[in-house]
Amino acid sequence: MSIIFHEKTKVFHLQNNAISYIMMVLPNGQMGHLYFGKKIHDREDFGDLLETAPRPMSSCTFEGNKSFSLEHIKQELPSYGTGDYRSPAVEVRQENGSRISSFQYHSHHVGSGKPKLPGLPATYVEDKAEAETLVLDLYDDVAGIWAEAFYTIFAEGGVIARSVRYINKGSQPVQLSRAMSLCLDLPDCEYDWVQFSGVWARERHLKSRRLTMGIQSVGSMRGNSSHEHNPFVILKRPDTGERHGEAIGFSFVYSGNFLMQAEVDGHDNTRVLVGIHPDTFEWQLGLKESFQTPEAVMAYTDLGLNHLSQAFHKLFQKRLARGYWRDRVRPILINNWEATYFDFTEEKLVHIAEKAKECGVELFVLDDGWFGARSSDHAGLGDWAANKERLANGITGLAERIEGIGMKFGLWFEPEMVNKDSDLYRSHPDWILQVPGRPNTHGRNQFVLDFSRAEVVDCIYEMMAKILREAKVSYIKWDMNRSITECFSQAYGPKQQGEIFHRYILGVYDLYERLTSEFPEVLFESCASGGGRFDPGILYYAPQGWASDNSDAVERMKIQYGTSMCYPISSIGSHVSVVPNHQMFRNTPLHTRANVAYFGTFGYELDLNKLTEEEIEEVKGQIAFMKEYRSLLQFGTFYRLKSPFEGNEMAWMAVSEDKKTAVVGWYRILNAVNGAFTRVKLEGLCGEFCYENSQDGSKHYGDELMNFGLITSDATAGQQPENQAPCTDYESRIYVLKAIG
Ligand code: GLA
Repeated sequence: MSIIFHEKTKVFHLQNNAISYIMMVLPNGQMGHLYFGKKIHDREDFGDLLETAPRPMSSCTFEGNKSFSLEHIKQELPSYGTGDYRSPAVEVRQENGSRISSFQYHSHHVGSGKPKLPGLPATYVEDKAEAETLVLDLYDDVAGIWAEAFYTIFAEGGVIARSVRYINKGSQPVQLSRAMSLCLDLPDCEYDWVQFSGVWARERHLKSRRLTMGIQSVGSMRGNSSHEHNPFVILKRPDTGERHGEAIGFSFVYSGNFLMQAEVDGHDNTRVLVGIHPDTFEWQLGLKESFQTPEAVMAYTDLGLNHLSQAFHKLFQKRLARGYWRDRVRPILINNWEATYFDFTEEKLVHIAEKAKECGVELFVLDDGWFGARSSDHAGLGDWAANKERLANGITGLAERIEGIGMKFGLWFEPEMVNKDSDLYRSHPDWILQVPGRPNTHGRNQFVLDFSRAEVVDCIYEMMAKILREAKVSYIKWDMNRSITECFSQAYGPKQQGEIFHRYILGVYDLYERLTSEFPEVLFESCASGGGRFDPGILYYAPQGWASDNSDAVERMKIQYGTSMCYPISSIGSHVSVVPNHQMFRNTPLHTRANVAYFGTFGYELDLNKLTEEEIEEVKGQIAFMKEYRSLLQFGTFYRLKSPFEGNEMAWMAVSEDKKTAVVGWYRILNAVNGAFTRVKLEGLCGEFCYENSQDGSKHYGDELMNFGLITSDATAGQQPENQAPCTDYESRIYVLKAIG
């Protein structure tokens, strides 16, 4: 890896063995973009890649020169109003009302490693040799604003991380009304735009369309990254598939309002912007003050989408997630939510835990309803102390009993919210986000605490920390069950109301940071009505997240498949729940529910006492299986093989680092009579190894399994097979392949 600077031509070339990222100082002093893609040879002068040409009717920078127009030139930190009519990366509103700015190159420095972003989640290095960072110092001398543009290239893989820090060195305060984290201008538009979108209980479905002239975007203005859109987008060549082809993935390490967009201009240039959503953002930059944007991460591959996902998995698992649990297999848990909802007593919970312990479950999680006056979703949020009528011995007593059974104990919190029927609200009615004189919108009967205020965060911290100090709590499920409305803080003046969304999320990060620092061995799982805040920002604090409130196995196939495009399997919270399923009312076989949940953190969301003896035996087998293979499933190399968005079958697999063991999951949604022969071409095996198949003991070389495929046809041909259970709808199988000899 190296960052080369050609003094004469003012060209910067960031490269490692996979990629090149090239830019230069333009004749007008701004930074121009030249190339991002597969590694290319270095040379002194890449100026011709700018592709300037006389465009008769364009707005041009230099009098008498019709070739240099910012309208067409690929740039690094473009602004609006000096010739470029595309969406800008930055907008500075100055005291005189002007929004025109132009950031010029001043100097730069290169350092090994990667600096931290204060107060914000970001990728990191453990050893300085893992990455190099270029910082460009750019300035707008009229406004007196400086921009430090950070570019980190990692030694391995196709990843570049970017962010910008703005500093007011001028003599007047300004307002940042747009501060995107990344701008990438690409020289053509031959791409499919792939996004991961949905709604509550249908998160991160893969949706794709061809780029065309104009703007296509995803984003959130809900205060969280949202169920609707995820801060991850892929631009892929139209013929790129899982196994081959070019693609660039863009990910935003942030949990609040975001915008990701691609704008194609009339000459087929594509501008990608990633950052905080400018429609809900303004930041006052007083004298000597600075503003740090969150980090955006982009990755290039020419080896297909599986390869792209693996790059994100590795980065996010090893250099974004942190702490005690980062590299540890995740405990198999049982959560009481779907088993009891609000209707529980200490005895009932212990009864559920005891049966789970008998089956091999390691962690019991008490969900919503244990605190304050919380007997429904109308009351109690904000009062984080046990309800003694329900739990006479408090959380301390219950946790001790659970530990006494031989299990760990986990607890649900929703720290950012309050019900009006709560002691917290009664004593601090001004602590919620609300606009004076206007009605306030609720969501699930709850209101949003003003986390932009330090005293609010302090108060919640004290309540949570007290419980964690007193009781043996090993896990926290941190929920957030509504989007933000009426985003207005009583603590800030009129000019700063545009800062509240961002200050709110900084407050969330602050609380996470304090809790994870004081209780480093507590495992945090994030949740927002399921997958409403499943993003890289949260992964920095909570290494796993509840992927969706939809626990139906068939629905989970699409949700987890879409999620796997960016997020590591160890981060995907997935459980076996009861049938008929509580969201879909569908009956799926117990083995299929587990076969889907294995590709995640794994656990149960039901009362095992209600299962038959036969089912309990099956559950014991599932837990034993997960314990044996979870290290491979959660930390192995993951491949998607067949997409549930394209047909009736889905398949995926995980391979161990030494390629000696692989676990393949195969799933068929509806059964077919006398169906076709089916097989799945596997990936990532060693062609030279001979593997034994756990399903039937057959032996095949890796090259055969990867080129002919693993045979998945079955006996169902319109009649009951002899000595075999017939296949039904929602059939699935797990194949364990082990290298022999
Ligand atoms: C959200 C979560 C659920 C559960 C409930 C409790 O919906 O996603 O898993 O914790 O809240 O109210």
